[in-house]
Amino acid sequence: MHYFIITGASRGIGEALAVQLIAPDNHLFCISRNKNEQLISQGGNLDYYELDLNDLAELERVMAQISHRIDEEKALSVSLINNAAIVVPLSNIERSSWEQVNQNISVNLIAPMILTAEFIRRTSHLRIEKRIMNISSGSAKHLVPGMSCYSTAKSGLETFTRCIAIEQDKQPNPVKIMSVWPGMIETTLQDEVINADKEIFAASEFFKMAREHGMLATPEATAARLLEILRGDNFPQGIVIENIYE
Ligand SMILES: NC(=O)c1ccc[n+]([C@@H]2O[C@H](COP(=O)([O-])OP(=O)(O)OC[C@H]3O[C@@H](n4cnc5c(N)ncnc54)[C@H](OP(=O)(O)O)[C@@H]3O)[C@@H](O)[C@H]2O)c1
Repeated sequence: MHYFIITGASRGIGEALAVQLIAPDNHLFCISRNKNEQLISQGGNLDYYELDLNDLAELERVMAQISHRIDEEKALSVSLINNAAIVVPLSNIERSSWEQVNQNISVNLIAPMILTAEFIRRTSHLRIEKRIMNISSGSAKHLVPGMSCYSTAKSGLETFTRCIAIEQDKQPNPVKIMSVWPGMIETTLQDEVINADKEIFAASEFFKMAREHGMLATPEATAARLLEILRGDNFPQGIVIENIYE
C-alpha cells in the first residue's frame, strides 16, 4: 500500500491530487477545514480529517491518528504533500492585522514544519520510501507589494526544505524532501488575488492579465505533473523546482 497525506484537499490543486491518487493500492489521508464530500463519495481508501491548520496543537494528534492507520506490514511508501495555503493578507504590511499575519505564517509555514517533524518522527523506523513535497510559489522569489506574508512564508518553506534535506542526509532511513512552484493555476486562491481591491493590492492587475492571456493551468494538469515528480525514480532531494514542465 502507498500512503499519501495531503493538506488542502477540499478544492484546487489538493483536490486534483487526491482525485488522481484514488486507486486500490493507495490510501489517502486528506486534511482541510471543509470535508470534500465529492472526493469521499468516489470511494477508495480515504480518511478525511476536518482540521484547521491554524490549530497548531492539533497537528500532533491528527498525525498520531494517521500513523495508527498505516499498516506497517503492507506499507510500500509514505508521502506527505504540504499543499494547503492562504494568500491573505493582500495588502502592505502596515494595513495587515496581527491576526492575518499570524494566520498566514501559521498555515503556510509553521503547520508544514510541524507536519514534517511529525512525519519524520513517526516514520523513522520504516525502511520504505518516504517523501515530502512542499508546494511553494514563484512568490518566494518574485516580490510584489502587498504579498509580504505569503512571500515570506513560501521562501521560509523553501529554506526549511533545504535544511531538512541536509538533516536527513546522514539518517539511516532518510526522508526525501523537495519544494516546487506549481505555476499559475485556475483556483480559488487565484480568484482571491485577481479580485483583490487594486487600490490596496495593485498587482491584482498583473494576475488578471495573466488569466485573460490564458496563462493559467488547470488544477488537473498541474496535479498530474506534480505526481510525476513526487513518484518519479529521481526524486530531487532538497531541490526547489521552479518550472514543473522543464
Ligand atoms: N493557484 C495558483 O496560481 C498557485 C500559484 C503558486 C502556488 N500555489 C500554491 O498551490 C497550493 C494550492 O493552492 P490552490 O491554488 O489549490 O489554493 P485553493 O484553491 O485556495 O485551496 C487551498 C486549500 O487549502 C486549504 N486550507 C486553507 N486554509 C486552511 C486551514 N486553515 N486549514 C486547513 N486547510 C486550509 C483549503 O481548504 P479549506 O478552506 O476547506 O480549509 C483548500 O483545500 C498552495 O500551497 C498555493 O500557495 C498556487
